[in-house]
Parts: sequence; C-alpha cells; structure tokens
Amino acid sequence: MLIVDIIVLWIHIFCAIIFVGGSFFMWLVLWPASFKVTQDERERTLMVGRVAKRFAYFTHVTIATLVVTGIYNATWYLGGNYDLLATEGGRILLAKVILVGIMIFVIYFNNIYHGRKITRLAREGKIQEVQRIRRYTHVMSYFSLALMVAIIFLATSLQFF
Ligand code: HEM
Repeated sequence: MLIVDIIVLWIHIFCAIIFVGGSFFMWLVLWPASFKVTQDERERTLMVGRVAKRFAYFTHVTIATLVVTGIYNATWYLGGNYDLLATEGGRILLAKVILVGIMIFVIYFNNIYHGRKITRLAREGKIQEVQRIRRYTHVMSYFSLALMVAIIFLATSLQFF
C-alpha cells in the first residue's frame, strides 16, 4: 500500500538523519568543544564517554530500525524481482547492504567495545592506556563516518535506477 510505503520510507530517512547526524555531531562538535570545557584529561574523557553512552542507545534503536525498514523498502524497490544482481538498482542496493554490514561490525566491535573500556580506564586514572586505545578507535570512527557517507551516496543513487 502506497501510504504504508511512504510512512516506512519516512521512518527510514528520519532514523538515518538521527544516526548519521548524531555521529557527525559527536566528531565535529562535541569532541573539539570538549577541549574548551576542561583541561583535565580524565574529566574530559568521562564527559565525552557519558555523552557517547547516551548516544549509543539511539545508535542501537536507529540501526535496528534502519535494517528492518530497509528490508521493507527493498520489497517495493525491487518490485517482486528479488534477484539483487539482475538490475542496476539491485546491484547498488546489494553494495549498500554490504557497506551497512561492514559499518555495523566496525561500530559494535570497535567503537562501543573500546568506548566502554576507555571510560573505565579513565575512571581508574589510566590515562596512558586511554590514549593508546584512543588512537585506534579514532581511525575506526573516521572509517565508520566514511562508510556512512558512502551509504548515503548509494541510497541517493537508488533514486535514479
Ligand atoms: C539492510 C539495510 C538497509 C536496506 C536494505 C536499505 C534499503 C533502502 C531502500 C530500498 C531505499 C529506497 C530507495 C529509493 O527511495 O529509491 C532506501 C532509502 C534510503 N536509505 Fe536505506 N537501507 C538500509 C540501511 C540504511 C542505512 C544504515 C542508512 C543510513 C546510514 C540508510 C539511508 C537511507 C536513505 C538516506 C535513504 C533515502 C534515499 C532517497 O530517497 O534518496 N539506509 N534504503
């Protein structure tokens, strides 16, 4: 039904806005601003960690919703032809799903796992350990942001095929 398709696509896009917008906000706004709030490395790490933990709830909900609504969108988008390799649009969708899978893996197995570890180490005052892990998580975070940009590019391309 058209109205259901519209509502589900709206939920999909709205979740993408919260998820992608929130992720970029963390790196473009919160992280640089945290250096101006306090010079105390332990306090700063705990503050950013607290915000990241709260944003993680939204990450869980929006990613789960994006996957469920995305699968629904795919049913009308592929128009009964469920062979993802048969059409240009299907291949773009397949590439998008693969990138989504990689992004989910990177976010859960690196950012969230290490994020909790960083907060615990900061609370224990082990700042050198924190800095060592943080170098690694920063690379992973930039990689997940790059994946988001690529996923949005593929999502936009779907409109034209
Ligand atoms: C298994 C996961 C997913 C599937 C199967 C999926 C599938 C789809 C489909 C079929 C569309 C409709 C394309 C059209 O309007 O022509 C769509 C739109 C869209 N998707 Fe996804 N999606 C998934 C995950 C995601 C994720 C994780 C994001 C964001 C990071 C995202 C962002 C978007 C956006 C922004 C649109 C709107 C594009 C537009 O209308 O121009 N999707 N998706």
